[in-house]
Amino acid sequence: MSEVISRIESARKEAESALTSITDLDELKEAKSKHLGDRSELSRISQSMGSIAAAERAAVGKALSAARTELATRYEKAGRELLALRDSRVIEEERVDVTLAASRFPQGGVHPLTLLDREIGEIFTRLGYSIVEGPELEAAWLNFDALNIPADHPARTMQDTFFIEPLESNLVLRTHTSPTQIRTMLSQEPPIYVICPGRTFRSDELDATHTPVFSQVEGLVVDEGITMADLKGTLDHFAKSIFGAEVITRLRPSFFPFTEPSAEVDIFFNDRWIEWGGCGMVNPKVLTNCGIDTSRFSGFAFGMGLERTLMVRHQITDIRDIVEGDLRFTRRFGLGGR
Ligand code: DAH
Repeated sequence: MSEVISRIESARKEAESALTSITDLDELKEAKSKHLGDRSELSRISQSMGSIAAAERAAVGKALSAARTELATRYEKAGRELLALRDSRVIEEERVDVTLAASRFPQGGVHPLTLLDREIGEIFTRLGYSIVEGPELEAAWLNFDALNIPADHPARTMQDTFFIEPLESNLVLRTHTSPTQIRTMLSQEPPIYVICPGRTFRSDELDATHTPVFSQVEGLVVDEGITMADLKGTLDHFAKSIFGAEVITRLRPSFFPFTEPSAEVDIFFNDRWIEWGGCGMVNPKVLTNCGIDTSRFSGFAFGMGLERTLMVRHQITDIRDIVEGDLRFTRRFGLGGR
C-alpha cells in the first residue's frame, strides 16, 4: 500500500475512534471539524493531490472519497443519535407533573362592611322598605339647612365638614346620610319606608375610634299615624336581627335638630349598655321643608354607624382594622358573613 493511502487509512481510523468517546453535540462538532474540516489530515491530502504521482492519483482519489463518504455517514448517524439523546434528556428534565397540587390564586373576600350593608338591606327589605342612595358630594342646603341644622351649628364649622372649593358652590362631602331623607321626601309622596346606606365624611384624624370616611345607614318612615312606639319596635327588631335575639334596646333622651323628640338608641349587649345610634320623630319643620302635610303625616328616623356596629358586634377595638384592608383581618369574616 502506498504511503498516502496508509495516511488516509489511519486518518479514517482516528476519525472513527474519536466518535466512540463523544458524549454530546458540541464534542461532535469539534471532532468533525478536526477530522473532516479544512485543516484535517484528509483535507491536506486532497489539497496535495497535484503532487502525487499520476499513477497513484486515481487510487488515492478513490480511497479519499471512500473515507469521506464513510465518515460523513458515521458522523451524521452519531449526530442524529446525540440529538435524540439531548431531546429526551430535555423532556425528562423539563417535565411538568400536571398532577401536582397547584399554588392557588388567592381568593378575594367580601369586606365585612359590605356584608353588614347587605345584611341590613335584607332586614329592611323584608319589612317592605326600599333602599335608596344619595350622592356623597351633597348640597350644603340638603346636608344642613333642610335638616333644620342652623348656620351656627357646630357641625357646620370647618372642623367637621369637608367644604368643596369654590366655597360659593355650597357643596360639601356629606357629613351624614340624613340628606338622603330630604331627597326622598322631596321626590316621593308618603307613605315612605326607606333605608339610606352610604359613605359619609368628616374631617377627623384617623385614630382608633375615628376615621374621616365612614359609613352610616339612615332609616326613614313617613306615614299616617306613625308614633314613637313604631320607632321603638322597628329599632328593637333591627337590633335583635343584628346583635341576636337576647339584645335589649333603650331610648335615651337626646337632641338632633331634625328630630323632635330625639333619642339615642342604646343596646344591652355583652353585659353592658352601648350607644348604638341616634333617632327620633321627624321634626315637623323638616317635614314642612319637604312639603309634607304635618296634619296628616308623621314620621320617625334613625341613623347608625356601620363601622361602630361591626366594632360592637365583633369586639373590634380599633376602627383602623376595618378601613385599612389588611387581609388577615378581612379573612376572619370570610366570604359568607358571620
Ligand atoms: N345624622 C346623625 C349623625 O350623623 C345620626 C342621626 C340621628 C340620624 C338621629 C337620624 C336621627 O335619622 O333621627 O350623627
